[in-house]
Parts: sequence; structure tokens; C-alpha cells
Amino acid sequence: MIGAVPSFQRKKRSMKLRTLALLTALAAPATAQAQTRECAQSPGKMLEVCVFVEGGQALYEVKRGDVTVLAPSALGLSFAGEPEARYSAITGAKRAAANTSWEQPWGEQRLIRDNHSELTVTLAGDTPLNKAVDVTFRLFDDGIGFRYDYKGIAPGQAVAVTADRTQFHPVGDYQAWWYQGLGQERDEYLYTQTDARRITLAETPLTLKGANGLYLSFHEAALVDFPSMLLQGNGAGTLTAWLMPWPDGVLAKKTGPFTTPWRTVLIGTSPGALADSRIELNLNEPNKLGDVSWVKPGKYVGIWWEMHLQKTTWGSGMRHGATTANVERYMDFAAKYGFDGVLVEGWNQGWDGDWTAHGEQFSFTKAYPDFDLPAITAYGKARGVRLIGHNETAGAVVNYEDQLDEAMKLYASVGVGAVKTGYVKHSGTILDRAGGQNWFAGQYMVDHNLKVVETAAKYRVAIDTHEPVKDTGLRRTYPNWVSREGARGQEYNAWGNPTNPPEHVAILPFTRMLAGPMDYTPGIFDLLEGGKDVVSRRVQSTLATQLALYVVLYSPIQMAADLPENYEANLPAFQFIRDVPTDWEESRTLQAEIGDYVVVARQPRGGKDWFLGAVTDENARSLTQKLDFLTPGKRYEAQIYRDGAGADYRVNPTALAIEKRVVTSKDVLTLDLAPGGGQAVRFRALD
Ligand code: NOJ
Ligand code: CA
Repeated sequence: MIGAVPSFQRKKRSMKLRTLALLTALAAPATAQAQTRECAQSPGKMLEVCVFVEGGQALYEVKRGDVTVLAPSALGLSFAGEPEARYSAITGAKRAAANTSWEQPWGEQRLIRDNHSELTVTLAGDTPLNKAVDVTFRLFDDGIGFRYDYKGIAPGQAVAVTADRTQFHPVGDYQAWWYQGLGQERDEYLYTQTDARRITLAETPLTLKGANGLYLSFHEAALVDFPSMLLQGNGAGTLTAWLMPWPDGVLAKKTGPFTTPWRTVLIGTSPGALADSRIELNLNEPNKLGDVSWVKPGKYVGIWWEMHLQKTTWGSGMRHGATTANVERYMDFAAKYGFDGVLVEGWNQGWDGDWTAHGEQFSFTKAYPDFDLPAITAYGKARGVRLIGHNETAGAVVNYEDQLDEAMKLYASVGVGAVKTGYVKHSGTILDRAGGQNWFAGQYMVDHNLKVVETAAKYRVAIDTHEPVKDTGLRRTYPNWVSREGARGQEYNAWGNPTNPPEHVAILPFTRMLAGPMDYTPGIFDLLEGGKDVVSRRVQSTLATQLALYVVLYSPIQMAADLPENYEANLPAFQFIRDVPTDWEESRTLQAEIGDYVVVARQPRGGKDWFLGAVTDENARSLTQKLDFLTPGKRYEAQIYRDGAGADYRVNPTALAIEKRVVTSKDVLTLDLAPGGGQAVRFRALD
């Protein structure tokens, strides 16, 4: 069977697609006789997956052309009350294929192509719960996804998953970018680059670069009602799924029959192939919310950075940041410069004292007396600016859930269209109603995060989760889940020790960002804030880099994080932030090396312009960039924001040169990037 091209694929390749909406469910009814090996190829024959049973194990392997990417790797779950299953055969195989495209309501790419082939095998195991397990593989040309369907479990039967035996066995030498999972600060860590064999327990997306020229990334899609998956190394390069357990040690509590999230492997020959893959979205269910025209991408400012700089406080008192007067000042600024939202933290009661230890004291409806919610929202409405709410829970999830409906109802009634949530709490200490301590992304929190999103949707409120369960593409199904944090963001540049080194933003696009949008909050202009002279304690980037991040790090909501006065002190540079959109027709990673540099181009949704963002690590470099993404024969005014003479994140971060020239698709741009530098370009269509 290996290498054989199923007849449906031969037919499809020779057939020019007349319509994008071709959906075929084809071929091969369950085989009459038990088989031990089934294979399938991706639509363009780039990848092949074979599944087989050997020595009581169910295994899959993945090839790209002649290269074995994943050597035989185990499949299957184990359950409480029965031994580890041994599999005897594949008792059925079904094949299907789809070649469709669908439109995102907002996103990095308006139209998404979903071109995949599918193989579902039924495994026969020797335990009651593993008696008949379907494993469905979806093969795209740039990666695969697979998930289990425990269809043989009786409806309503409660089961407890005690092990996920799924393995990934990359062949050859790989470098990995990762941090140790289960740390106190959840996913807020700097990445280190090591030999992949040194991985102990890594969060996903876990990205690898091979000596064979391949780039791989392991993650999951559609994580619903199941614990988050980490990957455990065995010292020899094989990775095994490791699920965040419940307080009692059970990994997942399910009711039969059930399907798991998709386990995904992106496979490409460049970092950009990973970043530009849309598998994550394609493996999620379509929009469940119906009309989502009320979900608005956009840019916002907020009473936020001033607190992280300790100029004002979240708690009440003389230096309280969330006063009506201060909010109105930000709203005036937002209205004047075209921002549609103002985030306000510290508006609600519960911040006084050690709030991180007393999340149960937070009220999500009662404001501090110097914050007049109705007056503020009316003030904003008159100026076309909406208040963005903030719900810091400090991990007191029960307290939040108890107020959730009432809170969202209140926000909707005053026109709050989006809420930023937060779960500042050490990663394994989230209490459930029974007092059990949960991991920040175990099944309990996966369910909680979605409950918040679904409740918010009922009131037409969008959610931006900080300290979240990692993204797995659920924005497709729940388009009001607009963004998340889930990595070390800009906040660490206010007080981190160390702050984020320059390479961090050249790693994120190929690690954290593969999961989905990130609320990084770029745009710090006062890079020497307070005369900070220790480089590792301040924002480690040039001003041009701060601008470039609006293009490099995708999010449908982007903050201009600095203080209004710092923007008003440099309006020429601020113009780029005013001009850059947050919703795109198309996105392309033009060139990159993970942790060294990245160049991204995006075209505004429904527009003719293009935007480009480039960032480098601590090394200066000169990149040659063809402009062949521009429409041939058209002229563009390139508005270039580049590192100025002598720019260097260590000694001269604010040197910025702004210039304009006319270019076409035939031109080549030289991107001279300073240490810690970057470049941001708007290509304004002239024709
Ligand atoms: C952590 C969030 O990431 C940050 O943005 C917020 O300001 C603080 N928590 C306080 O809620
Ligand atoms: Ca955070």
C-alpha cells in the first residue's frame, strides 16, 4: 500500500477545479477483511501518512517525498479501570477529500483555502474502551492533523483518561525553541534554543529545525473540553503527549462517545511555511455564533503602561489610574488620533492590598467611586470611542464565574464591546469549586476559558484572554475570541529582569504565533523611560522595531501601549501606528530565520496598499527584499520608517529615519536593520 496513489487522488490531480467549493467524500468502504496498514497522501502528494498495527501497538509514520519525517510513533489513550490496550488490527478505513475555501470575518487572511485528504482508520483494541477507536488523519501539503474518536464508548458512559500514548518521533538532528512547561508564570518565558533531544517537557507550539532542512511544529487544534497537551522528551528525540491533569491525577474526564482535539504537525522547508500555514484554522469547526459583524478588529490605547511603570496604580488612592478624568483624557486622545478603544484596568473594586493573593475579592460590576462607568461610556460614545473592559481574576475562577453573566450584561448595556481577562496566578494553583488545585490549562480551565467566551458572545462582547489557555484556532468557531496573550509580552519590558531580548520578537512568529493572534501590545516610544541605563531592564528594541511589530505580530486588536504624551512628542513616527490596519486580505512571511530576523508583508482587507514589517535580533543586518508582492504595473509610495544613523537598541534606540519614495513590484528594497532594529513600511497605492 505504501506509495500507492488512491484512485480518487489520481482523478483529482488531473481535474482542473472549476469551483473552490468541491467537496468529495470518496472511496473505500470499510474493508471486508482486517488490514494492518493503511496509507494516504496529501492533495499535492507532498506528504504521506501510513498507519499500521505491529506488536500490539498502533503506529503512524509520516513521509515528505522520500524523507521519513516521523518514524513509527504510537497512537492511543488509556483509561482508568482497564490496562493499556493492545491493538490487533485495523478493521476499517475510510477516505475523503475536500478542496474548499472559506472566509474569515476578520483575520490575517480573508479567504482560507482548505485542501486536504482524509483517512480514517478503525483500530481494534483488546480493552472495552479501546475496542473500536477511529483515528482520523487530515493531510494537507504543509502538515497533518489527527484525532481520536472513541466512538465505541457507550453514550453517557463516564470515562477517565489516564494516559495519552500519542508520540512524535522525528528522524534526524533537530534544534528546538522551547521553554520548560509547568513553570509558575505559565507560558510567560523566554525561549531557549537547544538540541531537540534535550527537551524535557515543552509547551506547544513546539518548533524544530532539522539538519535535513525541514522545519516542524507540533501543536493541537480545537482544544475543547480536554486538557492542554505538552510534549515530553525521552532524551533521544522522541516526544510523547503529556496532558495537564486534574487535581486527582486524571487527565481528562469525558462522557462517551467522544473525540479529542487534533494533534498537528506542520512540515515545511522554511520558517515562513510554518507561519503561513492555515492548518490550525482549517481543523477547527466553522463559526458557531452566526452574525458576528459586531466583532470589530481595531486599535486601542489604554490606562495600562502607566501602571506597569508605577506612575499610577490599579488600586484606589491618590495615584489611582482609572479615574473618570484620566479615562476621558485617553478618550480624547483616542478620538483625536483615530483609535476606537480605550482599555481601562483597575476600574473595579478588589485591587487594594495584595490582589494576586485575593482574587475572590474582585467585583466585576462595582466600580471604584472615582470611576463613573455610565458617564465614561457616554463620553466615549459621543466621540466614537468604546471602553474596553478589564476582568482580572487573579485565578479566582469560581468568583468570576459567579459574576460572569451579570458582568457581561452590564458591559453590554453601556456599550462595552470587548473585555480583556486575566489570570495572574501561579500555574498549578487555580482552585475549582471543590477546592482542588488546577493547572492553568487543564480541562477545568479549558472549559472555563470557553465558558467566558460563550457567555460574552451572548452579550455581543469580544474577549482578549491574558494568562490564557493557549490558542488552538478556536477563533474560527468563536470569532469573538479575538486575541490572547500566552507568551512574554511587552509588560515584561516595564519590569522584567531581564526584559525581552531582541531575538524574542524574531522567535515568536514561529512559535507562539503559530497558535493564533497575540496581544503583545507594541508601540513603546519612550524607550529610555525614566533614564533607565541598564539595557536588560528596559525595552530592548529600536523605535523602528516598535513600529514593525504591528505587522510582524498579528492580532486583530492592537494596542498602542505607550502614554499619550509620548506619542504626541513624536507625531511623525506615530503616523505609522495611525495608518497600520489590523485586519488583512492577505499575509505573507517573505524571509526569516528563527530567532535571527523576519520580514512579513500584509495587505489590508479590501485595500490596495501593502504593509511590511521587519525585525532583527541583537545583530545588525542588511536584508535584500524583492517587492514582487506588489501588483505588477502599479506604482506605490513607500513610506519607510527605518533605523536612523547610529540606531542601536543598546545606546541609541530612538534614532529613526522616515523617508518616502515611489516603487513598483520590480524594485528591491534594502532593509538595513540596526542591532535590535527593524523597519516598517507602508506602500500606498498611487494608481
Ligand atoms: C497581566 C496582564 O498580562 C497585564 O496586561 C495586566 O495589566 C495585569 N495582568 C493586571 O491585570
Ligand atoms: Ca501576562
